[in-house]
Amino acid sequence: MQAPLFLAQHAVATEHYCKDYLAVKRAHVPARLYDAMLYSLLAGGKRVRPALVLACFQACGGKDINQALPAAASIECMHTYSLIHDDLPCMDDDDLRRGKPTCHKQFDEETAVLAADALQALSFEMLADLDADADTRLTLIKDLALSAGCQGMVGGQMMDIEAENQNISDVLQVERIHLHKTGELLRWSCEAGARLANADGTQFQACSRFGKAIGLLFQIADDILDVTASSEALGKSAGKDKAQNKATYVSVLGVSKARELADEMCEIALDACAPLNSEAGEQLQALATYILKRGQ
Ligand code: IPE
Ligand code: IPE
Ligand code: MG
Ligand code: MG
Ligand code: MG
Repeated sequence: MQAPLFLAQHAVATEHYCKDYLAVKRAHVPARLYDAMLYSLLAGGKRVRPALVLACFQACGGKDINQALPAAASIECMHTYSLIHDDLPCMDDDDLRRGKPTCHKQFDEETAVLAADALQALSFEMLADLDADADTRLTLIKDLALSAGCQGMVGGQMMDIEAENQNISDVLQVERIHLHKTGELLRWSCEAGARLANADGTQFQACSRFGKAIGLLFQIADDILDVTASSEALGKSAGKDKAQNKATYVSVLGVSKARELADEMCEIALDACAPLNSEAGEQLQALATYILKRGQ
């Protein structure tokens, strides 16, 4: 399935922002750390989270995407940090990411841990730099801390590790893991775009609902792709979830039921767009459909 054109356009804008932001720091950062951060951040990647920030910003009436770009770059830094840690030998132990050797393979474990730590801090720094009023910046920073931290992504990663080899059969337990480890950063992306556009209550709720549905849809599709796609197509090792006895939608429901659930989540996401600005709302719908179709 072809990705929507605007995904690539938003990706280019976000990558430029990240590159320029880091270039200013170059002289003040140990070269190996700088290289590792840049290596993982600019390795490619679909840039779904930045696209969600920017598309929700536009869907709520935001005009100048430069206003929302620091938030788009911020969530990509946070996400990249989570991937570097996810791939470490003590976590999922992966050698391939975004079609290249993982950060700890290309550099070493120490450098990978530190590059990820630095990207996490950078993510908050970028939000502090937003051209928005202090209340909005503080809200975005606090929300991201909650979404990324022990009550969010990191908490979900802990649940994911603890569920390994437990032969989990409760779909609600898998849903809980996925909403935390993956869903939270996607939800944040949508809500951040809405906040930066000064969305009204209805628009904000629409983006929030969309973000929650997309969050679950995204990880269901990821679980399906792990068993149906090749490492070459994914740019990361396929077949890892079974090898590590992970609790996934596929391990609990099987591929075809997981696909049905993905369909349902996509429907919820599409419906959520109804109150949004039509052209940008259609972009969000195209993104939801793209995520669904990747998993089919
Ligand atoms: C991979 O995320 C990790 C999950 C949360 C499933 P992506 O599929 O967005 O990875 P990139 O950013 O495109 O490499
Ligand atoms: C990763 O889930 C979620 C986070 C990085 C927080 P996975 O472990 O399924 O992601 P992949 O399949 O390695 O990209
Ligand atoms: Mg993992
Ligand atoms: Mg993994
Ligand atoms: Mg996966």
